[in-house]
Amino acid sequence: MKETEIAYVHGRRVWDSRGRPTVEADVLLESGAVGRAIAPAGASTGTGEALDLRDGGTAFGGYDVTRAVGHVNNDIARAVLHMDAADQAALDAKLIELDGTPSKSRLGANALIAVSMAVAQAAAAAAAEPLYRYLGGPSASTLPLPQIQIFGGGAHAARRVDIQDFMVTCPGAQNFAQALNWTAEVYRAAGALMAESGALAGVADEGGWWPAFDSNEQALEALVRAIEKAGRRPGTEVAIALDVAASQFGHGGTYTLGLDKKELDTESMVALLAGWVRRYPIVSIEDPLSEDDHAGFAAFTAEVGSRIQVVGDDFLVSEASRVREAALRGAANCVLLKPNQRGTLTETLNAWKAAQDVGFAGIVSARSGETEDTTIAHLAVGWGVGQLKVGSFARSERMAKWNEALRIEEALSVRGSFAGAAALGRSKR
Ligand code: PGA
Ligand code: ZN
Repeated sequence: MKETEIAYVHGRRVWDSRGRPTVEADVLLESGAVGRAIAPAGASTGTGEALDLRDGGTAFGGYDVTRAVGHVNNDIARAVLHMDAADQAALDAKLIELDGTPSKSRLGANALIAVSMAVAQAAAAAAAEPLYRYLGGPSASTLPLPQIQIFGGGAHAARRVDIQDFMVTCPGAQNFAQALNWTAEVYRAAGALMAESGALAGVADEGGWWPAFDSNEQALEALVRAIEKAGRRPGTEVAIALDVAASQFGHGGTYTLGLDKKELDTESMVALLAGWVRRYPIVSIEDPLSEDDHAGFAAFTAEVGSRIQVVGDDFLVSEASRVREAALRGAANCVLLKPNQRGTLTETLNAWKAAQDVGFAGIVSARSGETEDTTIAHLAVGWGVGQLKVGSFARSERMAKWNEALRIEEALSVRGSFAGAAALGRSKR
């Protein structure tokens, strides 16, 4: 009997940051080591994502997960019993085979990702190593450049503004801790500016300030003012990153900006965003076009991709084959990595490996529905991805991840380094 053999798997229903049910998995190994993980949940999901299994019906708005939890405790627990937790690839292959659907809809991506991550946590515990080190060995020493939301919009703020995330990133920071220091001051300054102008109205889903603006561009102006008010140089020290999440308001080459009362075709959408890139200190734009607008993604990347990072989220859904295809078309230069978009860690890692093969950058990302689970902070360091995005600088489901990365930076001490601006994707032409 091997120490890392799986002895017991237990699933339970817990609650996420939106007060919705989600799946937690515990994995016990023969050695006595235990791993635990919780599935997150998206609200602005790509159509190519693996699917969560929800009960439907009336309880908890149809979001209950008793069937997914049941699958963890029955089919999955039986299938992975006695498997080796140290062989993540075999474990994930078993989960994929057992589910048997391309979208993970039979057992649920929420059931699968909770087990997949809990197995990794258990294997790390058995090795008496923190997960980042278990995954990446001694060379896992790069702290990620964080993308942190200041204003939350789109699906996370009742469509109050069209753009989903107005974020900052700190290419000029010396280390991860300093990036958080600077971001904390920008977040505070932005809140103070909102209060002064009578526009403070609480926070959105991921903890960013509620975006009470008259136009999308006004949010960009406010962000630059907040960076300055915090005493930082816009662009060099603290720069802007956007998640347009354009699939939420664009389909078939037509984009409807509700706040700006504009209907744009692909070409005008590209021109609008390229104009913002010229006028504001923007270093990264995620999902600038909708997931079905491959030509738009390629056109936008051709226009600005040598200067800024163009990130595919709904567009690439953490899938290796889509990353390769996008690279062939010259569409995007960075992949967002959300483990629950695929349902297993191995598939998510494969997307990152594909990204490295084709010269794309990567960002490990949380979802808008989150919990105290901090696995993704370890993935960012352990896989050497270089960037981490977990929402804003408020609310403990977000702060849990930032704080975990701080602990990792402290543990690595002088052996660690900060990814900084070098982590940002750029297309080579
Ligand atoms: P979601 O959004 O977790 O609600 O899907 C996050 C994102 O679009 O990056
Ligand atoms: Zn996104």
